[in-house]
Amino acid sequence: MGLNVLYERIIEDLISNHYALVDGFFDEDTCRGLNKLLRQKMKQGILEKAGIGNKSNHLKNDAIRSDKIAWIDNHSIDVFEQAFIQQMNSFSLYLNNTCYTGIQDSEFHYACFEKGAFYKKHIDRFNNDNKRKFSVVTYLNKHRKASHGGALILYTEKGEINILPEWGRTIIFKSDLLEHEVLVSTKDRLSITGWLK
Ligand code: OGA
Ligand code: MN
Repeated sequence: MGLNVLYERIIEDLISNHYALVDGFFDEDTCRGLNKLLRQKMKQGILEKAGIGNKSNHLKNDAIRSDKIAWIDNHSIDVFEQAFIQQMNSFSLYLNNTCYTGIQDSEFHYACFEKGAFYKKHIDRFNNDNKRKFSVVTYLNKHRKASHGGALILYTEKGEINILPEWGRTIIFKSDLLEHEVLVSTKDRLSITGWLK
């Protein structure tokens, strides 16, 4: 499938459902490289407890979320991170050119939901900052089973959608509209999450 065909399909889904599910948005090599990098960071103890809210509003609230994260440098020299950023930039450019979305920036972080971790129902916009336009989450667990939990629940107008965090799966949704939740994971759940702004 050509990239433009894929992007058009994603845009159609975003328009009709406010979310799009894409398997294979990033190629296998990139996913493998990113998975390895994330596992290295976990071993090195680089991941930090995630917060809710931004800057002045920053709280670390275990009752709401309990994942650990590490931000990705948009100017990283790592080839896999570059491939990831490059694909996101190409998609953002397409969105801007075809839908006048006005995306100017992006931010991404690795995330690990360890055993018992979750993220209660929320939307991805801060009260004091409305810049986030689209949320993008890519799952980096090989051989993930439904019994490992950690499903993403999207609360759509048409009802609840249950998405399993399967290897190489990407989910894109409107940051301002869609309430969502991460159910308790029973095994390390690896991903990259971020926002087009
Ligand atoms: C988030 C989030 C969803 C997921 O980090 O804001 O909602 O499936 N993540 O990891
Ligand atoms: Mn979220």
